[in-house]
Amino acid sequence: MLVCYTKHELRNALAGLRAKGAVGLVPTMGYLHAGHMALVTRARAENEVVAASIFVNPTQFGANEDLSTYPRDIEQDLQKLRDAGVDVVFTPTVDEVYLPDADTHVKTGYLSRVLIGRIRPVHFGGVATVVTKLFNIFQPDRAYFGCKDYQQLTVIKKMVADLDIPVKVIGVPTVREADGLALSSRNVRLTPKNRAAAPVLCKSLDLAEVLVAGGGATVHSVKKEILDLLAGMPCGVVESVDIRDAETLAPMRGRIVSAVVILLAVRFESVLLIDQRVVTPPNNR
Ligand code: PAJ
Repeated sequence: MLVCYTKHELRNALAGLRAKGAVGLVPTMGYLHAGHMALVTRARAENEVVAASIFVNPTQFGANEDLSTYPRDIEQDLQKLRDAGVDVVFTPTVDEVYLPDADTHVKTGYLSRVLIGRIRPVHFGGVATVVTKLFNIFQPDRAYFGCKDYQQLTVIKKMVADLDIPVKVIGVPTVREADGLALSSRNVRLTPKNRAAAPVLCKSLDLAEVLVAGGGATVHSVKKEILDLLAGMPCGVVESVDIRDAETLAPMRGRIVSAVVILLAVRFESVLLIDQRVVTPPNNR
């Protein structure tokens, strides 16, 4: 596996590899777990060349967010990627990625102002900018993102369509712990008490799925059931419960008659956990 620290090294490495066939890219911020590795496995299955990036992107963190405490373990990450058969990894410094006088940013619209964008106003603009840069640096044929970060996936798919970026964006299902908690690099910062409570996100989604699958559910009734379940948590603060059109993230009202995505954000002290599920009413299957 080639490990590249500069854009120049990476471009040279890829120039040699590209002749083998399609390039699949897995962008990450490191501290890799089985969720990230599911993206790598999928990329390995679908491409001749697999590339990954490890870069904790400062522009997607707000001033009071967890950039400085974001967990890192580069040696272990490289070993995991090597074991998974990745061909080339890009692990640059912040100065390598961003010019000191950078004056151009990708501005995302509606999709990045709603939901998590309301709690984290600079987040999706930072994600869109770095992902565009990574697409330009790697020029991959396919790029892999987790459905766990559903809004991120939606923002990136829309950006690629809007800006005619020549890459196929692929969403990979969420990988979970045995008790349902979605794997996240942030989980290690949960206290034991919060860790024990955290599977309530997944349980709420299970409940919502049953309600919607049964037919006749309304946005209001499903939201109320979820909030009632979450109200029983011994700890944690509900930041948001949203039911939106699965594709456009437009708000919905009344009976659920088409595919919707249920998006949850719950804060356990300083750790914001998110989870999501797309659910489809019976008439729409
Ligand atoms: P990061 O949080 O490291 O996640 C990298 C990729 O792994 C994302 O596409 C994310 O959705 C996916 N992922 C995380 N947990 C997952 C799980 N439990 N199951 C399946 N996939 C999972 O997301 C980012 O980094 C950054 O915003 C990035 C896109 C790299 C831009 O900086």
